[in-house]
Amino acid sequence: MSTSFIEILDLGLQPLSNNYLTNKTTNEFKYHLIAGINPETFLFTQKYEIDSSKMFNDNYSYRASMSATMRQHFSDIAIKIKDYTLNNVLEIGSNDGVFLKNWNTNSIVAVEPCKNFSDFTNSIGYKTYNEFWNTRTAEMLLEHHKKFEVIYSANCFCHIYNLNDAFNAIKSCLSPNGVFIFEDPSLLQMLYNNSYDQIYDEHPHIFSIFALQNIFKKLDLEIINVEPISVHGGSNRIYVSHKGCKPIQQTVFNTILLEKLYGLNTIDAYRLFSDRVAASKTQLTTLLSNCKDSGLKIISYGATSKSATIYNYCNIDNSIINYIIDTTPEKINKFSPGVHIPIKYYNEIDSSVNIAFLGAWNFISEIMQKEKNYINNNGRFITHVPNIKIL
Ligand code: TYD
Repeated sequence: MSTSFIEILDLGLQPLSNNYLTNKTTNEFKYHLIAGINPETFLFTQKYEIDSSKMFNDNYSYRASMSATMRQHFSDIAIKIKDYTLNNVLEIGSNDGVFLKNWNTNSIVAVEPCKNFSDFTNSIGYKTYNEFWNTRTAEMLLEHHKKFEVIYSANCFCHIYNLNDAFNAIKSCLSPNGVFIFEDPSLLQMLYNNSYDQIYDEHPHIFSIFALQNIFKKLDLEIINVEPISVHGGSNRIYVSHKGCKPIQQTVFNTILLEKLYGLNTIDAYRLFSDRVAASKTQLTTLLSNCKDSGLKIISYGATSKSATIYNYCNIDNSIINYIIDTTPEKINKFSPGVHIPIKYYNEIDSSVNIAFLGAWNFISEIMQKEKNYINNNGRFITHVPNIKIL
């Protein structure tokens, strides 16, 4: 438990969000998901730490390469990073190699805690250490490699509970003029969009630039640039260097100003968010129950971690949602965590379906493009972002 913590949001008992089950077990691990603020740094964080090895294991099911949007995203950032270095990159949290594949095998090294993925990327030639990212792993890396000119990490640091240790590990592995580039969901976007489903076991923190700056200050690291990016429902790409090494770009001051204008440095903004989350729950459960009572067939689109938070917080189960469709082989013919909704292989939305809840709302453009037939045949989507509506 965090030493200093102001409670904001109670999302109730939650399962491990990527723990897809082969049967409807009755003794699934659950924990009390309470999110709040560290009053010293204003880090938005969870009260209870979950053991990382429970979440990231040898058969982890989330694959970043499952959407065209993400494949394009990683290809684009790889091209950008080649302006900094062509051959001295470390990736932390390389998942199924969706970013690595944009590099020559001898120009990049990776660290990935899920063995199914590190085995795979090693098998296609990318040196991948099967480790969690921490100061011990950093020391081990430095026995085999020189310091890195670029360290890149996408959707990984918000997964790490002990940030001081993880950022100290970056500091020790980053060359004197090197740049650490990381991407994670934006707290400001989460509050704007009321996308409270960004909060689940694997996201112990959702970052504001304001809070990160408070943390980096103590470690002699400096945020030098921030780019808003659209992936994962609105993220920030954050560039960090050793203190005093590079000029700080105006984007950093502008982003922090925006965050402060929204009130991210006050507790009130978070209390209002908490009220909006409670209202979203009432509206969503009422709408889905009304649809069900009218005889409509409801499914869910995308077996996401995010939707696990919604279903478990709102008590939405198989009595409301017939099944979830998804393209990820590891999730098919399993049951969703906590509420045990069956997951089916995505082919095309069945013509008997009337409503599809957008579990993967962050891919709305890709999905709308793909599902023209369904929409033309009067199929409808429901989303909760930024408020409950039928599309
Ligand atoms: P993502 O939104 O990245 O999820 P998380 O909340 O777990 O971080 O994952 C998207 C999920 O949706 C993933 O399991 C793949 C699936 N998906 C489809 O099944 N079809 C699609 O067209 C898209 C875009 C995603």
